[in-house]
Amino acid sequence: MTRTSARKPSQKRSLRGRWSDDRFTLAWMFVAVVACACALLKPHFLPQPVWMPIHAVALGVVSNGIFQWSWFFSRGVLHFPLEGAVRYAAFARIIVLNAGIVALFVAMWLGSVPLSVVATVLICGAGLQQGVMLARVARRHRDSRFVPVVHYYVVAFVAFVLTCALGAVLSYEMMGSNVPAWLVGSADGIAVAHSVLGIGGWAGITILGTIVVLGLSMLHARQNEKTWAWASAVLPLLVAGTLIAGIGALAGLAWMVGAGTLFFLVAASGGVLWPLWTSFGQRRRSSPTAWTLLAGVCWFMLLLAVFAVKSMLAGSVSQIRELIVTQLGIFIAAGIGQVFVASLEYLVPVAIGGGPRIQRLGGETVAFWWPLRLGLRNGALVMFFAVQIAGTSQSGLQTVLLAAILLCYAAEAVVVAYGAVRQLRAKNRARLTESAERKAVDDEK
Ligand code: HEM
Repeated sequence: MTRTSARKPSQKRSLRGRWSDDRFTLAWMFVAVVACACALLKPHFLPQPVWMPIHAVALGVVSNGIFQWSWFFSRGVLHFPLEGAVRYAAFARIIVLNAGIVALFVAMWLGSVPLSVVATVLICGAGLQQGVMLARVARRHRDSRFVPVVHYYVVAFVAFVLTCALGAVLSYEMMGSNVPAWLVGSADGIAVAHSVLGIGGWAGITILGTIVVLGLSMLHARQNEKTWAWASAVLPLLVAGTLIAGIGALAGLAWMVGAGTLFFLVAASGGVLWPLWTSFGQRRRSSPTAWTLLAGVCWFMLLLAVFAVKSMLAGSVSQIRELIVTQLGIFIAAGIGQVFVASLEYLVPVAIGGGPRIQRLGGETVAFWWPLRLGLRNGALVMFFAVQIAGTSQSGLQTVLLAAILLCYAAEAVVVAYGAVRQLRAKNRARLTESAERKAVDDEK
């Protein structure tokens, strides 16, 4: 009797395990590396050489990752049970999200507006469902000190749905027939609002909410009440900054895009990053993932500041759109990418679990030669950024630097996948040994 109930959780986990869902993010990491390499070396191979690599990263890797980890994290801090319909809904929405993303790629390939609308409905449906679930959980646990992080996720899911809705309008403008002249004229503003909501509201707010917990956990430091209070207080300001920038873009007011971004930056620095930094200072401890996270956050803030200033000086939203397209690569590679890799490398061993010894196996694998990977990637990023700022045409050097950055990310995908496989194998071996020992004890009885 006791044995049966002890086995139940692991049986449930293998049925719809967290790890089985995470494979989508890893698979998209490989697709994104291939799409970026193609766009860099053989752009004519891709039907949409700008759209595809951007969205393989933004929708495939980043959005899948945010769906997974926001759920995993919210469960981790609020300890709500995952039973019955909730468990199956969590798995089903990841399937719906990925079916939508694949359908969107096919739609963009074929130039089909109806298919892109269907794909957007699927993607938004998955986002809406997770946002509502998290809002309900946050309401039920409103007294928990960890609830601000879930509020960050709920806001981010609202931004995600708005981003995708604007994306559908853009795809109609790009591929539709008889597109009204006003829509063609507003396309640049809509594209800027789409990017601002996607990068600031969706990825940015999620990153800020997550690092409040994750940064301190990575250093095994105690969670700090003050950090939570500040993070909670500053969320409306982050939303205001995103809205100011988004509305400014739709209204065609370039200065407003810059002002909104600056507002977001000041709120994030004062309300999230500074309190976190002072907490680091109280208990300094090194860890490979913390350094990668720190590098990503520094790049994120630096590039956001450059974007804010350049937007304020831009003459029109069309110039801002050009700026986004030229800066997006480095923004994703330096900022979002490094935060994402740090989170993945920290959380995958934790999510697979199996006890401290087995977990250490995964942790050791992802830490393999980490200073070299981190140094090479950031060295190449600094050089790439310097060439971009100088405005000199060094396309040969830039291609070599981009290839080096891409190689570092491919190495990250390999170490995460290899670490996960090693850890899973060790976990299965331990489980088999344990059940063999239990059977031997039962037989003896
Ligand atoms: C249903 C989901 C989505 C659809 C249908 C969609 C569609 C589009 C389209 C049609 C463009 C214009 C491409 C061009 O003019 O070459 C675009 C650009 C872009 N999208 Fe999306 N998108 C979606 C989701 C996202 C998400 C979630 C993000 C961010 C996390 C994102 C970030 C971007 C960025 C940064 C650009 C470049 C802006 C520009 O062209 O100036 N998209 N998207």
